[in-house]
Amino acid sequence: MQNVKGYGAMTRLAICISAIATYAVLDAQAVVAGESDAAEIFAAECAQCHGRTARGMASFPSLRGKSAEYLSDRLHSYRAGEAVGPNSMLMYPVAGDLDDKTITLLSDYLAETYP
Ligand code: HEC
Repeated sequence: MQNVKGYGAMTRLAICISAIATYAVLDAQAVVAGESDAAEIFAAECAQCHGRTARGMASFPSLRGKSAEYLSDRLHSYRAGEAVGPNSMLMYPVAGDLDDKTITLLSDYLAETYP
């Protein structure tokens, strides 16, 4: 019985560690851009506020129906620390981690997926 319990704890620990490792990899991709998948970056970095399908919720705006140029302009503004709306401070740390290529990838992905 103790062995079974012990195994369960180890399995939970392993799952937990692999979840953290996965998040760390996605986070690094967002910073470096590279060939990373915009959908994965969105899921890891943006969906918790803007929703899995970018519909937004409460004071988090929808990102649907917006042009890539508009989205990219906004992300550049947040990265530069410029106030856009009343809650821009929530976007500063997020956009601060994005390089130009990742901003373009994310903006194109959102505009194409949710026109
Ligand atoms: C901590 C919550 C949070 C996270 C995470 C987040 N956002 Fe935001 N986002 C906001 C809020 C709040 C606003 C509105 C800010 C304002 O008032 O200017 C916003 C605004 C935006 C806007 C401007 C929308 C418009 O219509 O003007 C874009 C584009 C955007 N976010 C993209 C992203 C992307 C891409 C990511 C992931 C890399 C992301 N956001 C992650 C909270 C978040």
